[in-house]
Amino acid sequence: VDPTLDLFEEIEKLKKEKNAIILAHYYQEPDIQDIADYIGDSLGLSQQAAKTDADIIVFAGVHFMAETAKILSPHKKVLLPDLKAGCSLADTCPVDQFALFKQKHPDHTVIMYVNSTADIKAMSDIVCTSTNAVQIVESLPKDEKIIFGPDKNLGAWVAKKTGRDLVLWQGSCMVHEIFSLEKITKLKNRHPEAEFIAHPECEDAVLKIADYIGSTTGLLKYAINSPKKEFIVATESGIIHQMQKAAPDKVFIPAPPNNSCACNDCPHMKLNTLEKLYLCMKYELPEVTLPKTLIEKAVKPIERMLEISA
Ligand code: 13P
Ligand code: SF4
Repeated sequence: VDPTLDLFEEIEKLKKEKNAIILAHYYQEPDIQDIADYIGDSLGLSQQAAKTDADIIVFAGVHFMAETAKILSPHKKVLLPDLKAGCSLADTCPVDQFALFKQKHPDHTVIMYVNSTADIKAMSDIVCTSTNAVQIVESLPKDEKIIFGPDKNLGAWVAKKTGRDLVLWQGSCMVHEIFSLEKITKLKNRHPEAEFIAHPECEDAVLKIADYIGSTTGLLKYAINSPKKEFIVATESGIIHQMQKAAPDKVFIPAPPNNSCACNDCPHMKLNTLEKLYLCMKYELPEVTLPKTLIEKAVKPIERMLEISA
């Protein structure tokens, strides 16, 4: 790409020319968040994908999110700036192993976190996100047997909140499971006024010392509305851009990971760049496509989720 090109201007032009909408997850780099038409968490993004009248959905997020958009809007073109933007959590749940797991637990309703492949969604009864997981579980009768996957930490947190006995798939997210309890405790001691807020994909030991636990949107709203001025944030660092924009006078400290070489950036989310976004809009590639039969199966559990959380 010509380095003298104003990518913001070019992307705005392409949006109008092609009647395209850019949907971006909170974990995208700040430039992408700033040019997006809608920024949100997984639930908000799927609600937008279901209702948009744009011809092209440019999904600045990871592959399972673009797949969900395609499933909800099968007649629209869905673009993902980098097809390699996957998800370590979705990868923990391969179809053949999950089919065996289901066989071992017959008569169970399958609730699947949206961070899963389209094939896995097609094997599920209801999809959920971290915003509505508690509500989705509670929408089922108390005696219903439930499989919850693929994130074991979110699953354990939901089980605790709802008092339900969930059969958990043992998956986890590489970003959320690396936070160091010891380093966070030390940081809390150095910042006694700070509130510690965490995403439910974090490990139980980390969640136990949190002042607030919530999805990305939950964390953002909490931080904006809290009277406190300082926050230690245990989730992907991209969300701090929105926190800082909404509350410029507050201080947001990323929670420290256990390995000093690691950081709170999701390597999959951060594969997308402004340049790749521009190129994918210009050439309308790479496109996310799915077989019609798979879309027909996978749409049912997603629509069930959207109805419950409407
Ligand atoms: P939410 O967007 O539901 O908070 O999920 C976070 C996440 O890990 C997305 O990949
Ligand atoms: Fe997947 Fe974790 Fe990255 Fe979200 S933050 S896309 S769950 S690897």
